[in-house]
Amino acid sequence: MLSELLLTDIARLSQLGRLPLHRQLYESLRRAILDGRVGAGERLPSSRELSQDLALSRNTVMAALSQLTVEGYLVSRMGSGTFVADQVPQRVTTMVLPAQGWAGSSLSVRGERLAGSASAADLEVQPFSSGTADFSAFPVALWQRLQNKHWRMVYPEMLDYSDSGGYAPLRRALADYLRVSRSVPLQAEQVIITSGTQQSLALCAHLLADHGDTVWLEDPAYWGATKVFMAAGLHAHPVAVDHEGIAPAAADELTPPRLVYVTPSHQYPTGAVMSLARRHQVLALARQHQAWVLEDDYDSEFRFSGPPISSLTGLDRDERVLYMGSFSKVLYPGLKLGHLVVPPGLVASFRQAHYDLNRPGQLPLQAALAEFIDMGHFASALRRARQSYAERRRCLLAALQPCLGPDARITGAEQGLHLCLRLAADVDDGALAAQLARVGLTVRPLSAYCLRRQDARGLVIGYGYTPLADIERCGPLLARTLVTALAQAHSASRKR
Ligand SMILES: Cc1ncc(COP(=O)(O)O)c(C=O)c1O
Repeated sequence: MLSELLLTDIARLSQLGRLPLHRQLYESLRRAILDGRVGAGERLPSSRELSQDLALSRNTVMAALSQLTVEGYLVSRMGSGTFVADQVPQRVTTMVLPAQGWAGSSLSVRGERLAGSASAADLEVQPFSSGTADFSAFPVALWQRLQNKHWRMVYPEMLDYSDSGGYAPLRRALADYLRVSRSVPLQAEQVIITSGTQQSLALCAHLLADHGDTVWLEDPAYWGATKVFMAAGLHAHPVAVDHEGIAPAAADELTPPRLVYVTPSHQYPTGAVMSLARRHQVLALARQHQAWVLEDDYDSEFRFSGPPISSLTGLDRDERVLYMGSFSKVLYPGLKLGHLVVPPGLVASFRQAHYDLNRPGQLPLQAALAEFIDMGHFASALRRARQSYAERRRCLLAALQPCLGPDARITGAEQGLHLCLRLAADVDDGALAAQLARVGLTVRPLSAYCLRRQDARGLVIGYGYTPLADIERCGPLLARTLVTALAQAHSASRKR
């Protein structure tokens, strides 16, 4: 019965074009599944039976079946055969929206604000700049081989926009990884592949908040997130961060949030780890205000000391937390791939909106990444990177020892690719950073990340992008310059 149906379809397809035989079989079977002619859970004939019935080679049949399995249309159960999956990937239909154009050539008020606020783009990547990983360690030759392989296997649909959640095997690989390493309780359907955290945040801002709604931001905050919320027309309400992470006070609740953006594993940029009590407080506030919590887990892969930290999402019982991660730090930023995990109740709307707003694509790239993860290359890249960053971190911490004292202490060095040297509230950290820039060292003043508060002063110092040899060479210069500058600042403030 199935064979007859497939034979008719294959005959039709072969008249239409010159698709290879395994693609014709793949396409026929996929269509039969999508339009319900073969039902969910139905058992397929064995590859031997199919090859006899269809007069196709066994290899041809196996190639088609394995592709459908990889894409989530089929599941094979050891010893009992191949079945149509209970839930098959869906294609979403598109919606036509009226076109809009720019009225004039000058920037909007929002555009002026966006262009005029703090940005990472104008900061050169030099020793100690933060927020950047060492992508020179990326295994380029291996990646190239995987890409070539997937481009050789490419078929026309792979060049289309992607299914709205992204390539199914990649979503499955990520779900497995997040369940184990981040204690995120999730099904692969909840994962949406995006072009990185910026896009994940924009989706959340557009789908969960309206123009003028309030977003609580950590103060000091990540510029990237601040800008996305600004672009979405949200009202940013800064909430101070202390050593336990975001610290909402009663006064903050006078401006109730619609969204709460947090970096609980390693607050960016202070490095504070959100305590368990605060995690419960944030979840309770979200429940009380019917708000959504956006958890940006940007560098949790790199933890060097202290107990492992689970995700905030893992504690969420009300399905109010959305979790986002990125490959920018572990692989390389130009890859432009990240993932967003949404609660089950939001999956359909997020997929639809992602498709309509962003037209996601790059399936061959996603396929190569899925294999990179499945074959264990991701885990080895992570291991190598952790080891290399651990050495850089140790070297930087040792170099900074002479600067430390009651008014200069390090926070956030247990994890990530940067640490924060916290200084007294009367230190001009901007002037200090400028002084260091004159000797070729790029550190960022903590005050540049502050939204409202005046008391957070310090330097954000990165070691991810700085090779060990450069830290060994430039670390003592950094420390000497700091010791002198801090002594001068100290005596100046005593005279005042
Ligand atoms: C706090 C934070 N979140 C997320 C990211 C990653 O963003 P994306 O995936 O857009 O590259 C970064 C990168 O610098 C970051 O510092």
